[in-house]
Amino acid sequence: MTDSNRVSRRDFVKTAGSAAVASLVLKETSLATVAAPAKRRYAIVGTGERSIGMWGRPLIQDYKDLLEFAGLCDINPKRVAVAKKMLGVDCPTFTDFDQMCDQAKPDLLMVTTVDGFHSNYIARGLDRGLDVMVEKPMVIDEKQCQEVLDAEGRNKKKIVVAHNYRYAPKHQKIKEIIMSGAIGRVISVDFSWYLDVSHGADYFRRWHRLKSKGGSLWVHKASHHFDLINWWLDADPVEISAQAGLEVYGRNGGFRSTHCRACPHTSNCRFFYDMTKNASRMALYAGCEDADGYHRDGCVFREDIDIYDTMSAVVKYSTGVNMSYSLNAFMPIEGYRLAFNGEKGRLEVRDYERQPWPVEQQTEMYLTRSFGQREKIDIPDIAGGHSGGDKRIRDLIFMKGEVPLHMRLPDSRAGALSCLTGIAARRSAELKRPVKISELMRVPAKA
Ligand SMILES: NC(=O)c1ccc[n+]([C@@H]2O[C@H](COP(=O)([O-])OP(=O)(O)OC[C@H]3O[C@@H](n4cnc5c(N)ncnc54)[C@H](O)[C@@H]3O)[C@@H](O)[C@H]2O)c1
Repeated sequence: MTDSNRVSRRDFVKTAGSAAVASLVLKETSLATVAAPAKRRYAIVGTGERSIGMWGRPLIQDYKDLLEFAGLCDINPKRVAVAKKMLGVDCPTFTDFDQMCDQAKPDLLMVTTVDGFHSNYIARGLDRGLDVMVEKPMVIDEKQCQEVLDAEGRNKKKIVVAHNYRYAPKHQKIKEIIMSGAIGRVISVDFSWYLDVSHGADYFRRWHRLKSKGGSLWVHKASHHFDLINWWLDADPVEISAQAGLEVYGRNGGFRSTHCRACPHTSNCRFFYDMTKNASRMALYAGCEDADGYHRDGCVFREDIDIYDTMSAVVKYSTGVNMSYSLNAFMPIEGYRLAFNGEKGRLEVRDYERQPWPVEQQTEMYLTRSFGQREKIDIPDIAGGHSGGDKRIRDLIFMKGEVPLHMRLPDSRAGALSCLTGIAARRSAELKRPVKISELMRVPAKA
């Protein structure tokens, strides 16, 4: 292993390893036993912001001796060219995936397109013998889910689903407290996630506003949360009863336009977003929109919006746990409230991501033992995307340290179950009846 790898490895430990979470640091593979890995030929399909900021720049910086950029692909020829310039790489760019595979010959693929196209690229990548990683959500409906599992089944390669939230130290801490038995058997869960008028509204500006592209926030967003719950509980979702509505965005607006830059109502629109102030978005999106009509500052009141902004569900799990869950996307606050109610106690979490008042700490966590005292769990604030989860999952993917079983990378089964929970919730809300996961598809047993 090279010196620069050692430095990155130390950073990994430092990110995760402040005093209170020191016991949670991922175990390291003995450096002496790791042979210098050959450079992987790395390709990305879908070159928007996430691919540049999460799967582009940091890889160039941290793993340049492990990876070489073999190709970039996007259906928008202008955006892929801008992305290449922003990354400063000299690999070829493509608008056709097969051409990229034939000419650039990658062996490692990252899929970061619009969600509705993930399954197609995953299957084609696997069929070409590539190692495939995909951003969440893995798929947006059960048919795509089956196609992905079938593609994996007929190939030797395994998918990694980038459920980064698991790798935020605070989320690892929750997992390990539950595993420790401190609150005994978990009987129920209360989980409410709040998206604010900035982040929440952003989903209504773009392709996420259409079920056909992102599967609705039940899948696009809640799959993050459902993956965490499935993992924390070490349980499979079984049945979902849900309700949902569109109460603030879309047709609820009193006026509308196509996008903010062309809008005559900017002075009286609370959701006006002035993208011209963001040079990088102007280059990557506005400068390329004539090629695909993608307005990054789309109007949140467009009448074609067919997703929901308020969602609630009761989810039954294979272990008998019941979870009450809600997601609202028009809040003055960003963050979540979470509680695990166990037979011997309760673990409570309040996460303050953004709010119009100061807070001392982003995450408050309390463990209260029944007939006992309340204990504050110290969760230091950690800088970096998704509370440190982005860097830690990247390190684990590319540096392949040895980790305890519960910290292993999320696989296709985890990707499937997180999406199927959302797909079942969406269907339940629309059919106005409970929906069983088994109605959607047969999920393979745990390996
Ligand atoms: N894990 C996380 O926390 C997290 C955070 C943000 C985004 N994401 C995921 O990352 C992915 C990308 O999100 P983003 O915010 O960068 O979106 P984006 O809209 O900025 O970028 C998507 C890109 O995909 C391209 N594209 C669309 N259809 C395509 C197709 N058929 N073939 C090839 N390219 C196509 C678009 O032209 C665009 O460049 C999404 O799946 C999203 O869910 C995950």
